[in-house]
Amino acid sequence: MITEKILTEAEHMFTDVFKMEPAFISKAPGRINIIGEHTDYNFGLSMPCAINRWILVSFSPRNDDRIQIISHDFNEQLDITIDESYTPESDWKKYVYGCLQIISTLKKPAHGFNAFIQGNVPVGSGVSSSAALEVAFMNGLNELYNLQLDKLTIIKLCQRVEHEYLQVKSGLLDQYASQFAKANNFLVLDFQQMSHRYVSAALENHCWILCNSMVTRTLAGTKYTERVEETQQALKELKMFFPEIRHFRDIQEAHIPALKNVILQKRIKHYVLENKRVEDAILALQKNDLTRFGALLSASHISLRDLYEVSCTEIDFLMEQAVLLPYCLGSRIMGGGFGGCTINLVEKDKAEEFSTHIKSVYKKQFNRNAEIKEYHSVDGASIILV
Ligand code: GLA
Repeated sequence: MITEKILTEAEHMFTDVFKMEPAFISKAPGRINIIGEHTDYNFGLSMPCAINRWILVSFSPRNDDRIQIISHDFNEQLDITIDESYTPESDWKKYVYGCLQIISTLKKPAHGFNAFIQGNVPVGSGVSSSAALEVAFMNGLNELYNLQLDKLTIIKLCQRVEHEYLQVKSGLLDQYASQFAKANNFLVLDFQQMSHRYVSAALENHCWILCNSMVTRTLAGTKYTERVEETQQALKELKMFFPEIRHFRDIQEAHIPALKNVILQKRIKHYVLENKRVEDAILALQKNDLTRFGALLSASHISLRDLYEVSCTEIDFLMEQAVLLPYCLGSRIMGGGFGGCTINLVEKDKAEEFSTHIKSVYKKQFNRNAEIKEYHSVDGASIILV
């Protein structure tokens, strides 16, 4: 549950700046991905949940055509009129302006608005603050202009923002989790069917801990696109060899040796086996077999490290140190990769010990401070009328 405090704060900040009450607040959470990494853009399976960190955007309509958006965290504002041509220079402005432009192509906004953005989703930590921003903002525009778009259409529009305004060919994992999550559940996402279902995530004695390597994911954009292209190339070649392959999900492990290029073999092998691990993880959860569940997380890491090659030295170290601890059942790199975080399944009453230990070994090895945080699952995005 979102705390009343953060909502009241949002309302007060808006009123302070704009000298009027907001009409509504649109909120969307960040996400963690339990398993199913680098599968979404190729119609695979993933299992994320939303976490107890949110972006909140407070809105009120205006009578004129001015659009004034303030970002509390960046201490910046975007101030334009509806028809003004504008080139956003920073990322938060690209997200917001991208949402506006895409909505405008569906229906020209009838009036301007004031908006105030704030939140507590850590930026650049791999928990999708950007998806939370897009989803909160896009849902907000849908409400403001009474567009009656359904939840799935909205996140597809958010994905267009990533593709068209950030030039990252990302999948829908982050936005899907932020929009559709349910507290105490994992979402099982099938990007081939574009469908989701929920599996219970009520882990009595365990918790989710993220270790942020504090390695910034500078290469993430280009390397991510490289992976997208490599896997598409692998599919293209496999289709030529095997008539039964029409989509990514038709690819079986036995098909892979037909590819001549070893790199393409490795990339697609990760994809095929990662989808399988998601299915196995669901079974393990249903049987309450957390040892198996944890082992699947760690296997996912090894695959992302050796086959998909999206890890880095610092992250590998964090994972290896974590799984040495008897009370950590599994650990893996999470999100786009090339830095960022590991996600760890740890016994609840050892969380403190885990954090102290990992911080200390990491500092000793790299002379860097890891940031360690525990998260729990929450409901997806919603609109709160003020
Ligand atoms: C990033 C992207 C997601 C997904 C993950 C990897 O978070 O935004 O769409 O591809 O990387 O699983």
